[in-house]
Amino acid sequence: MSRSGRDPGTRLKNTKGRTASQARWLQRQLNDPYVKKAKADGYRSRAAYKLIELDDKFGLVKGSRRVVDLGVAPGGWTQVVRQRAPQAGVVGIDLLPTDPIEGAILFEMDFMADEAPDALMEALGGRPDLVICDMAANTVGHKQTDHLRTMGLVETAVDFAVHNLSKGGAFVAKVFAGGTDPGLLNILKRHFTAVKHAKPPASRKDSSEWYVIAQGFKGTVAELEAKEEG
Ligand SMILES: C[S@@+](CC[C@H](N)C(=O)[O-])C[C@H]1O[C@@H](n2cnc3c(N)ncnc32)[C@H](O)[C@@H]1O
Repeated sequence: MSRSGRDPGTRLKNTKGRTASQARWLQRQLNDPYVKKAKADGYRSRAAYKLIELDDKFGLVKGSRRVVDLGVAPGGWTQVVRQRAPQAGVVGIDLLPTDPIEGAILFEMDFMADEAPDALMEALGGRPDLVICDMAANTVGHKQTDHLRTMGLVETAVDFAVHNLSKGGAFVAKVFAGGTDPGLLNILKRHFTAVKHAKPPASRKDSSEWYVIAQGFKGTVAELEAKEEG
């Protein structure tokens, strides 16, 4: 304890060989209650709690049969899905390798690659009822570039969801800087009965990340057009 009576948390004793920002990141990790909790609860990432909190609020996971996890590594979200919907088959994709998770098929592949959507759908064996996307582009420090790159990932995730979800399905994605842009929001509103934004408590306050939650999938583009014509 410090003299002020406040617990100063774990201090890094040796910062040698680390840049100031690496030292700050490590210090924050060491003192983050979600990091400690994830270790104790057996989750591979603190991100697991973001899905837990979103699920508690919006009721997304229970009862799912087929789930796609975009940006799966290291696997926290898929662990939560498997716990909350043990009957669900999960197919995940990431640029990075992900250690095996029982009940999940994991691709080490770029989701932006042309062959990725077909590979995911083939592995799934039917339409997903939930598509979750926690992908984040590696930041380069240039705000506009970082924003555009992450929005590119989200756009592709939305496109995948609206072409493949089964009726009544749901979509969740990480978005930045004040939520989804108007064009994307319009697409989501056309295809889902409810579209909301949320920042779960586990999402760091100093991060600009938010999540968009779209529920009640009305149908694919072809299905909606056929309905309008008929
Ligand atoms: C915040 S992490 C996901 C954490 C995960 N939800 C969990 O609970 O463990 C974001 C992930 O998105 C992945 N990613 C970024 N761009 C990608 C792309 N084009 N294709 C596939 N994965 C990508 C990164 O490699 C990274 O592992």
